[in-house]
Amino acid sequence: MYEFKDGLEFSKFLDNNDPLGYLRQRFYIRKNTIYMCGNSLGLLSKDAEDTTVDVIEKWKNEGVQIWNADDNKYYLYSSRIAKLMAPLVGADDDEIAIVGSTTVNIHQVISTFYKPTKDRYKILLDDINFPTDRYAIESQVILKGYSPEDAVKTVKSVNNFLDEDDVIEAMTDDVAVVFLPTVYYRTAQIIHMKKITDAAKERGIIVGWDLCHAVGALEVDLKSIDADFAVWCTYKYLNGGPGSCAALYINRKHFQLLPGLAGWFGNKAETQFLLRQKFDHRKDGSGWQIGTPHILSMAALEGSLKMFIDIGMETIRHKSLKLTGYLMYLIDTKLIQHGFSVGNLREDSRRGGHVCLKHEDGYRISLALKGRGVVPDFRDPNVIRLAPVALYTSYGEVYSVVDILLDIMKTESYKKFSCKRNVVV
Ligand SMILES: Cc1ncc(COP(=O)(O)O)c(C=O)c1O
Repeated sequence: MYEFKDGLEFSKFLDNNDPLGYLRQRFYIRKNTIYMCGNSLGLLSKDAEDTTVDVIEKWKNEGVQIWNADDNKYYLYSSRIAKLMAPLVGADDDEIAIVGSTTVNIHQVISTFYKPTKDRYKILLDDINFPTDRYAIESQVILKGYSPEDAVKTVKSVNNFLDEDDVIEAMTDDVAVVFLPTVYYRTAQIIHMKKITDAAKERGIIVGWDLCHAVGALEVDLKSIDADFAVWCTYKYLNGGPGSCAALYINRKHFQLLPGLAGWFGNKAETQFLLRQKFDHRKDGSGWQIGTPHILSMAALEGSLKMFIDIGMETIRHKSLKLTGYLMYLIDTKLIQHGFSVGNLREDSRRGGHVCLKHEDGYRISLALKGRGVVPDFRDPNVIRLAPVALYTSYGEVYSVVDILLDIMKTESYKKFSCKRNVVV
């Protein structure tokens, strides 16, 4: 726990003593803008820009020979980037593929691991996860001939939080797979992965995780958790760029399985270009690639991840907790009397990288914030998500956001905005 104080001077003190403060200059930060949306789309760093320009140059100069250039760097790009990703998730690099999108990867892992039998055919989900996970799972159970009403079992949340004991209680003999997020996109709640994974394994249930809001925000140790699979995106805290290539993890004990969705980039490198009709599966995570890797969508990630490796997740998490702790302190001190509440859990071990700020007029307040140069995001019905990011947000910016919010409330300037929602909020 930190001792925080109110006042601009104190925010300056925090910035002057921030060991990661120098990193901010490596990012493109728009003038007169306070970016609080790195939990949705991280900012571009110069490091990420450099590796992207490298790929463009290679393509410009080499054409198709890009695949052989630099010791097959781009042909093996998934494995190369997996090496940079591995320390962030505590896995072996050969357990990771940089591939697809999170949603496609959910299809990939579920079609690989979901082997329903007459008695064990249900997939256990919650009711507050990002909905694409459910859409993908429901379509997978339909493909196997079941109805979602029967084959998808839902653990009910209580006041927007999920209780691990409720999940464990729902692990009945008919459950084949449990699939949950590690950090909730709305409330930033961290789920106790190890507790749930152990309980699932004791009951013979396959268990997988959606790490989208975890990777790059907090330390994840897949080795010690020993889950069967995981998926995550790279455009949020990892700053890989809009729609950057996602990632998946296959526990090495499952390398002998065939991917549910096979393709020629899952074939062994030695025989891939013999173009045989028989699929010769690579027996590691890279065997879960499908088609030609999306090099341009991976390039920024290479530069960005190097930055994470240089600094280390422990240091990044330390600052992230301090930033969100400071933000919560200022909210408690200045905004509670204006109808705001903090909608996330307070303990360090139970909150991810953003603060969930609730207000019944949250939508209009989020528009007023945008009008004042702050970029938050909004999640229905009443949540403003504020993500101060360890690599590029200053304590001074956190202070200013709360100051601006206070002014918006005192002047009631949010009232001039309409409640009608934009298509992308
Ligand atoms: C928890 C979670 N899972 C999945 C997704 C969507 O992944 P994608 O659109 O990259 O497939 C998101 C997007 O924000 C998310 O927050």
